[in-house]
Amino acid sequence: MSDKKKTASKGFSGKMGYVLAVAGSAVGLGNIWRFPYLAAKYGGGIFLLTYLILAVTFGFTLIMTETALGRRTGKSPIGAYRALGAKKMMFGGWINAIIPMLIVPYYCVIGGWVCKYFFSFLGANASQLQEDTYFTNFVSKPIEPLFWLLFFAIAVFVIIARGVEKRIEQISKILMPLLVLMAFAIAIYSVTREGALEGVKYYLIPNFKQFSIKTVVAAMGQMFYSLSIGMGILYTYGSYMKKDIDMESSIRQVELVDSIIAILAGLMIIPAVFAFAGGNPETLQAGPSLMFITMPKVFLSMPMGRIVGMVFFLLVFSAALTSAISLMESGVSTITEQTNWSRKKSTVIMLGIIIILGIPSSLGFGVLSFLRPLGGSILDFFDFITNSIMMPIAASCTVILVMKVCGFKVVIDEVKSSSKFRRKGIYLFIAKYLVLLFLAVILISSILTALGITKI
Ligand code: TRP
Repeated sequence: MSDKKKTASKGFSGKMGYVLAVAGSAVGLGNIWRFPYLAAKYGGGIFLLTYLILAVTFGFTLIMTETALGRRTGKSPIGAYRALGAKKMMFGGWINAIIPMLIVPYYCVIGGWVCKYFFSFLGANASQLQEDTYFTNFVSKPIEPLFWLLFFAIAVFVIIARGVEKRIEQISKILMPLLVLMAFAIAIYSVTREGALEGVKYYLIPNFKQFSIKTVVAAMGQMFYSLSIGMGILYTYGSYMKKDIDMESSIRQVELVDSIIAILAGLMIIPAVFAFAGGNPETLQAGPSLMFITMPKVFLSMPMGRIVGMVFFLLVFSAALTSAISLMESGVSTITEQTNWSRKKSTVIMLGIIIILGIPSSLGFGVLSFLRPLGGSILDFFDFITNSIMMPIAASCTVILVMKVCGFKVVIDEVKSSSKFRRKGIYLFIAKYLVLLFLAVILISSILTALGITKI
């Protein structure tokens, strides 16, 4: 199919369609699973504040640039770099395109854990889920987590192979508002538990003593991850965006939805760590396992908690599924476009990549736990190299592409072709003077970690 036709058939019908589609892909495990554990780990309020400032400045600038270049060229990143004549910078297109292929394997590991918890709430032994050792016992088993990884990965594969993504997305559009409502209700329940107030303070009041470059690196990585920046996705979505849609306000809405859901998830989980585990510093540092350790305690303390837990994990599953579909889809289109293999073959290859990289990420909590690349688990390792190293490089390439090859005028004209560019001044200031400097600092700090001089 030619690019033009693809754009026409996939184009979003209006602003609402665009916002819902991009928010559907952006809202996922990043908001519900990743944001709360990072906030808990990196000092609560200070992390939240750093994140929000970054999202409305750097995040906004980078999303606008990627979307505008995508809409202008009508192409995904590799094609966009080519179309803009950046022959010497094709590396930039490639790195953008490869990142989703490295994220989706470990995304499926967590997706698998979500499935496991859903079924466990359904089962007769649900009360065991609140025990402290339950999660560790589960992830350290050799076979069971692999089964759930495959379960989730094959679900995504089948949906893509049968071409029923649209239907799943429609279902998820109904489920997403339910997830927001539910998160809201759970957050109210959590913050009103005895002892939770300490947690609310920890989460909402910034403690500047806890601030360090690590806070910024973590918040920046989260911003990339949660808003799907620096991995080509927004070029592709931009290429589907109709020329008359107000780009700036659509992007603002996507950012708003994404941040609200992340903040709510934090309010659901962090105060609960204080109410149910006395703010145990070890739990706050739990990392990827935090949601799985904390949420069952919350649910099982409620009346009808098993049903609530089951519905919660079902809704999280739906958010994770749509994001995983969009990640895998992006990998499949890159393979198809670059090799001319059939979509079927590319989809099978992508499933192979998920399995090959997903298995060690999963076993890293059990049989392979003696491997501690960069001082963290294997999953943390993939998460770190993609979010804290590759995405800043990908984002830098985009900014350099604009500065050196096509000029800011291309971006500005593209935005202005459909509406006023209200924040043009701030956009240009950040894009021209701050982004590269800032990304360089982040990269250096991350490389120091990668060299073992500091820890993840
Ligand atoms: N933003 C998604 C989340 O919060 C994760 C993600 C990263 C993603 N990159 C993506 C989703 C690309 C879809 C496409 O969970």
